[in-house]
This record gives sequence, C-alpha cells and structure tokens, in this order.
Amino acid sequence: MPSSLSPISFNQILEHYSAQVDEQLEAILPASHGPAADLFAAMRYSVFNGGKRLRPALCFAAAESVAASDSNTAKVAAALEMIHAYSLIHDDLPSMDNDDLRRGKPTCHIQFGEATAILAGDGLQSLAFQQLTELNNVEPAVVVELIAMLSRLGGCSGMVTGQAIDLAATGSALALEQLKEMHAHKTGALIEASVLMGATVTGRASTEQLQALSAFARAIGLAFQIQDDILDVESSTEKLGKKQGSDVNNDKSTYTSILGLEQARREADELFDSSIQALQGFGESADSLRAIAGFIVQRGH
Ligand code: IPE
Ligand code: IPE
Ligand code: MG
Ligand code: MG
Ligand code: MG
Repeated sequence: MPSSLSPISFNQILEHYSAQVDEQLEAILPASHGPAADLFAAMRYSVFNGGKRLRPALCFAAAESVAASDSNTAKVAAALEMIHAYSLIHDDLPSMDNDDLRRGKPTCHIQFGEATAILAGDGLQSLAFQQLTELNNVEPAVVVELIAMLSRLGGCSGMVTGQAIDLAATGSALALEQLKEMHAHKTGALIEASVLMGATVTGRASTEQLQALSAFARAIGLAFQIQDDILDVESSTEKLGKKQGSDVNNDKSTYTSILGLEQARREADELFDSSIQALQGFGESADSLRAIAGFIVQRGH
C-alpha cells in the first residue's frame, strides 16, 4: 500500500462511495410489493447484504482519476454492482458452487428458493443494462460504448465465460497459465469494466488513459482473485472441523493449491506493484485508485 495511504483513509474512501451507490441502488431496485414481491425482495436481499462495493469504488475512483464523479457515475456503479450481485446469486446455486452462506448469511436460494434466486439474478442483470440507458446528458456514443463494455466484459468475453471455464475445470488440475486465463475472465473482466466504465462515463478519458487504466485493472483484478483464494484457505484453516472454503471443498485448482500460500502472497504483492506502476502517468487524481489497490491485496474478507 502506498505509504501515504492508511487503511483509515481507505475505509473513508469506501464509505464515501458506498453511500452514493447505495442511494442509487435504493432508487432503482423495485420495492417488494405486488405479485412479484418475492422476486424484488430477493433482488434487494442480495444487493443489500454487506458487499464491500469494491466495483463501485473502482468506478468512482477511475472517474475521478480522469475528471470527476457525479450522479451518472453512481448509476454506472449501480449497474456494475447489480451485475456482480447477479453473478454471485448464480455462482452460489446448487448446480454451481452449492454454497449455503454468502457474506455470513443464507444465500439467495436458501432464503428464497432456487427458482426465485435464478429470477433475481436475471432481474438484476437486465436492470443493470436499463440503468445505463438512464444516464443524464451523456452523449449517445458514450452510452453505447458503456453498454458494449458491460456486455463484453460481463458476458461471453468476460465473466460468464470465466464461470464456464471454472465449471469445466472443476476436479481437474489446471496449469498456472490456465488458472490465470480463467480468473482474468471470471473476476478480472468485471473489475476491468468497473475501471474503464467509470473513466468512460466522464466523456473525458483519452485512449492513453484508458490503456493505462486497463493495465491497472488487469493487475489488480488478478491480485484480487489471488487474495480471494488465500482467504478461502485461511478461512478453512481457521475453522478446522467446519465447512471448508467452497473452492477448496469443490476440488478446484486455486493459486494456493498450485503455488502454495507463500508464493501466492508474493504474486499478489508483485501484481500490486505493477498496478501502481501502470498509474505512473497520473498524479494525485489517481490516489483513490492506488488506495483501493492496496486494500485489495491486504483485505481480510
Ligand atoms: C467475491 O467478490 C467474489 C469474487 C468475484 C471472487 P467480492 O469479494 O468483491 O464480494 P463482496 O461483494 O464484497 O461480498
Ligand atoms: C465467483 O468466484 C466469481 C463470480 C461470481 C463471477 P468464486 O466462486 O471463487 O467466489 P466466491 O468464493 O464464491 O465468493
Ligand atoms: Mg465459483
Ligand atoms: Mg463461489
Ligand atoms: Mg473463491
């Protein structure tokens, strides 16, 4: 973590951005009334159950690195968080990772039943794209670019393909390069979308800036997944006798299973350094991005 940025300043940054995206999510998510009350309750349950709002934070920080954030940034951030929430609902389903707990609470399908959980994911995904059509005073070409980024990086060139690679690889040992490829899609792509879309919605990002931000996001996205794997192992070692971390339990290749804990930590640190390197052309305006990168490799949950 950059020496000038303490964990306290990171928490302040995160709270500041969370408040704005939460307000927007509250506004766009349907109230749980009427014949689809259960569906809307399930969508709200999965969005408001203690997520770190990391992708929204990256979106705001990227906007500020090139220009400024505003109410449109909050809408783009809300779209990203809804895609993230949908991906987790589906990821936890019995036919996928079969997890009963998410953020320490019953998963969506445990709380609302499998059919409603599937629909909640579907609803969140379409609401995310709807949100991008409701930006104010943004050039139509920018709106199209945002929709293109989210569909590409959230879908078949990104997250959904990553999940498919993950499923196909379950039970077989992956080589490190294959593991990286899987994670670049599964987790990295939406992190990259968060940074690129935050910068793009300002209408002020240059091609060079977008390239640098993309390099930043790819490095930090991989570091994020390595840390996720480390936390999975640590939680299963801490809770000896209890259910292991789900990926460990499901016999999946992870950074820690391939590299061991120490080497995995070193990789995460090196990726942090590269992410900071990628931002060298930016001044203080990118300090929030730098702080978030530090948090990603040091987080405990
Ligand atoms: C967890 O993501 C799932 C992965 C994509 C690895 P986060 O750690 O960002 O999840 P929340 O939203 O803060 O719970
Ligand atoms: C989830 O990855 C990735 C997506 C939902 C895209 P994991 O399966 O590793 O995440 P956790 O460990 O359940 O949070
Ligand atoms: Mg999974
Ligand atoms: Mg999972
Ligand atoms: Mg995991």
